[in-house]
Amino acid sequence: MKAIVCTKYGSPDVLQLQEVAKPAPQDDEVLIKIYAASVNARDWRFMRAKPFFIRLMPGGFLQPKNKILGADVAGRIESIGNNIKQFKSGDEVFGYLPSTTGRGTFAEYVCANENAIALKPVNLSFEQAAAVPLAAMTALQGLRDNGNIQPGQKVLINGASGGVGSFAVQIAKAFGAEVIAVCSTRNLEMVCSIGADHVIDYTKEDFTQNGQKYDLILAVNGYHPISDYLRALSPDGIYVVAGGSMLQLFQAALQGRRTSKTGGQKTYVNVNNV
Ligand SMILES: NC(=O)c1ccc[n+]([C@@H]2O[C@H](COP(=O)([O-])OP(=O)(O)OC[C@H]3O[C@@H](n4cnc5c(N)ncnc54)[C@H](OP(=O)(O)O)[C@@H]3O)[C@@H](O)[C@H]2O)c1
Repeated sequence: MKAIVCTKYGSPDVLQLQEVAKPAPQDDEVLIKIYAASVNARDWRFMRAKPFFIRLMPGGFLQPKNKILGADVAGRIESIGNNIKQFKSGDEVFGYLPSTTGRGTFAEYVCANENAIALKPVNLSFEQAAAVPLAAMTALQGLRDNGNIQPGQKVLINGASGGVGSFAVQIAKAFGAEVIAVCSTRNLEMVCSIGADHVIDYTKEDFTQNGQKYDLILAVNGYHPISDYLRALSPDGIYVVAGGSMLQLFQAALQGRRTSKTGGQKTYVNVNNV
């Protein structure tokens, strides 16, 4: 089969279209003929080995361990292993294959455990379905599982116009929250069109300095010092970091240890999906 192979760490020039062996499913796997895959921030991180610790886990120290990138997939099941119960050949499916599986979806075929996939809704195209898993899961985990989002809360999403953020805006609205979306000028209209109640252009205004308080802040990108985030949070608010600068993630991880014992404001780092 054909696959985009990441030969070494570096710029996009390291990616090559190559002929590789077509995988065969184990007993607990299905073989998917891939119709669409999506590109996420994690793919360029694995390609460039940025941040450096990608090389330690789960990347491969000197060169990429998983040579085929891509985690999101949508396609049709071509064959199934002996123990597969939930799916049959011909099913249209979509899903997410974390790096721990050692599989990549920038290829013609991939094998997946049946727990990693679901039937594709009929009203979604393969392209639409492939765009959902990693970004939407990250948004849902951040808002619901870590953020304990509740109807009527004021929820701010920093980095609202990208993959994770645009799902976060829609999910927060579906939970009945008042949504404040932070992005750049060119995307203000788009985030309103998907449901944001208020927008803040980060090129013109710093939301941590305007005196407003939020019940839940989901930080998807950018950088603000932890003290600024906590100042913009209500006394019992929750701050969840899903992405952005490494310093932002690091500060939140340290703060999370402190606040988890004291009550009041809480801080979580949501980095489940790599
Ligand atoms: N925790 C996890 O498991 C997980 C999963 C997926 C992604 N991530 C991480 O989450 C981050 C975003 O991923 P993504 O897929 O949403 O990326 P993306 O599609 O590239 O979107 C990036 C977003 O960040 C915004 N942005 C850029 N600079 C900003 C700044 N200084 N302040 C505020 N917003 C800014 C962009 O807005 P404009 O375009 O309007 O400038 C855009 O909305 C990455 O760091 C990624 O590694 C984490």
